Amino acid sequence: MQSEDFANLNQASQDSISRQAYVKNLFDNLAPKYDRFNRWVTFSRDESWRREALNFLGKDALNGVVLDLAAGTGDLANSAVKHGANKVHVFDISYEMLSVAKQKVRAVDDNHFVAFEQGSAHKLPFRDDSISGIVNGFAMRNVFHFLDDVLLEMYRVLQPGGRFAVLELSQPQNPILKYGFGLHLKTIMPIIGKLTTGQSSPFTYLGKTTMTFLNAPQFKSRLEKAGFQKVNWKTYLLGGIAIHYGEK
Ligand SMILES: C[S@@+](CC[C@H](N)C(=O)[O-])C[C@H]1O[C@@H](n2cnc3c(N)ncnc32)[C@H](O)[C@@H]1O
Repeated sequence: MQSEDFANLNQASQDSISRQAYVKNLFDNLAPKYDRFNRWVTFSRDESWRREALNFLGKDALNGVVLDLAAGTGDLANSAVKHGANKVHVFDISYEMLSVAKQKVRAVDDNHFVAFEQGSAHKLPFRDDSISGIVNGFAMRNVFHFLDDVLLEMYRVLQPGGRFAVLELSQPQNPILKYGFGLHLKTIMPIIGKLTTGQSSPFTYLGKTTMTFLNAPQFKSRLEKAGFQKVNWKTYLLGGIAIHYGEK
């Protein structure tokens, strides 16, 4: 199947297994050049959003066990380590993305711990109530086909009082900004993708999934449906980026 077939997240015609296989393959192929693309497309602003996401977790969560869910090349995990996190799990479905993460994320000393695990976010290999903080960056669109399962798994593994922060592309509320942002994702993002990775079709897919993903209030409702409390969000880049946060 082509990327176009998967770009509309609301289209129910593909089963979740073929969509998942498509996503995994996409990131396995992008892995060596993913970081370069990220820096270019955000003008390196993503680094400050990542720090901000860690601030939303707070000290108590960082002192316990942090899970970077769908961690990719591990940039949020790296921020967690720099924020003094004690134990960090770097978890992703893509072997190749994790391979890049392994080159970058290291425990600061023997008293700290970083583990790399491959698997799918809808079936986490962690015990109930065992994680104090979950961070997730730019990945919810990629698990949209089983989003509620993923959110329930996040809820299950978080300990009571544990916190989460989800950094995700969002849709500006203002219709003019929304139109301009959509145009940017549809046209500029594939060009930057081509320049930085030599491929454009993955970025056509990634841009289009943003416009069919939930807006911030809708995503808040889904998080609350999974059981999370004190859920809220903060937007950046005129509403094109959002950090959703809350607790169990
Ligand atoms: C856009 S990348 C984001 C990577 C990283 N979190 C970041 O902030 O840059 C999306 C990541 O989600 C991962 N992913 C997609 N489906 C997944 C699943 N079902 N379970 C775990 N990871 C998944 C991909 O392999 C990819 O690394």
